[in-house]
Amino acid sequence: MNQTTGCEHPAVTTDAHRLAARLSDATLAFQDVLTIYLGERLGLYDDLGRHGPATAAELAARTGTHERYVREWLEQQAAAEFLGCSDPSAPPEERRFFLPPASAEVLTDRESLLWSAARPRSLVALAHKLPELLEAFRSGAGIPDGTDDARTAQGDLGRAAFLRQLATEWLPAIPEVDTRLQAEPPARVLDIGCGSGWASIALARGYPLVRVDGLDLDRAAVEDARANARAHGVAERTEFHACDAAAPELHEGYDLVIAFEAIHDMPRPVEALAAMRRLAAPSGTVLVAEMRIGERFTLPAPPNDRLNYGWSVLTCLASSMCGEGPAGTGTLLRRGTLESFARQAGYTSVEDAGVPHEGWTFWRLLG
Ligand SMILES: C[S@@+](CC[C@H](N)C(=O)[O-])C[C@H]1O[C@@H](n2cnc3c(N)ncnc32)[C@H](O)[C@@H]1O
Repeated sequence: MNQTTGCEHPAVTTDAHRLAARLSDATLAFQDVLTIYLGERLGLYDDLGRHGPATAAELAARTGTHERYVREWLEQQAAAEFLGCSDPSAPPEERRFFLPPASAEVLTDRESLLWSAARPRSLVALAHKLPELLEAFRSGAGIPDGTDDARTAQGDLGRAAFLRQLATEWLPAIPEVDTRLQAEPPARVLDIGCGSGWASIALARGYPLVRVDGLDLDRAAVEDARANARAHGVAERTEFHACDAAAPELHEGYDLVIAFEAIHDMPRPVEALAAMRRLAAPSGTVLVAEMRIGERFTLPAPPNDRLNYGWSVLTCLASSMCGEGPAGTGTLLRRGTLESFARQAGYTSVEDAGVPHEGWTFWRLLG
């Protein structure tokens, strides 16, 4: 079926037919993304989850939206099978729509590892950047991170995994780190490129003795991190600083220095890695989590490589192209490149720390 026109595809026999069908399906998927964005931002899913089934008029009244727009959205969401409708043959104004259990988990349950409602927000943020990106392709300039949608989606999408898995599955896979974080005297941790602070908060919650410093270039992210730490009861053991990872003014001696999904975004990754090395105690651990990707460019590309090339072209490369003499790394920070950055920063080797994680490899930087 051609998803754009609703017509049957002609016999799909050639590569050109298959490609046309794929773009047609992508159109439908893009519509899913944009209409989920509306539902998430307007609180429509949350309201259906909290207050139960509704007609368009009821949902509009409950969420401060307009009935006619909401009715079209509800019908589209049911057609797309995100929502259920208990009486499709009823007159439009009387149809009642509800959240099936799977949609309730994926679209409204922020504690679930499957919660994905903020995913469209991160994609819409990319779309907002397209005019600047067109210009950057021509000029070679960088584009700093910084839209609200991008920042909050990044934080929201990582939140549940950090809170549920960092201190219970990921760090326990490195026994000496896990042991040190539980021991006296209280360990000090530094979180480089901390974003909205969820890794720092998860560490402070999971290891009740530790004190955590987080730093990020983005002031708004640092404000979010402070508010999140207060809301999660760890404000007294966490401190967040707005500064560049390449030149942090912090006291050395950290037992653990982490940078999760951040080094590839930085225009000066070698300086950041050198600062991490300088700030770690002699017995401390430096841990860098980056995308779990192939060691080299291969075709057909592994699924994670394909996904991360998308992020790279649309946002991460542009972040890493800012300022004078940028590294221009992009999302696919492969092992060989990380080893080269690490050597330049003074480390002797890089090893896979063996942390179980589908999307990231945790690299331990030694020496
Ligand atoms: C992809 S986000 C990851 C955030 C967080 N670590 C997480 O896993 O959710 C990358 C973060 O690195 C920050 N960043 C980029 N360049 C930086 C720099 N030079 N110094 C400090 N932070 C930087 C960005 O502002 C952003 O918050």
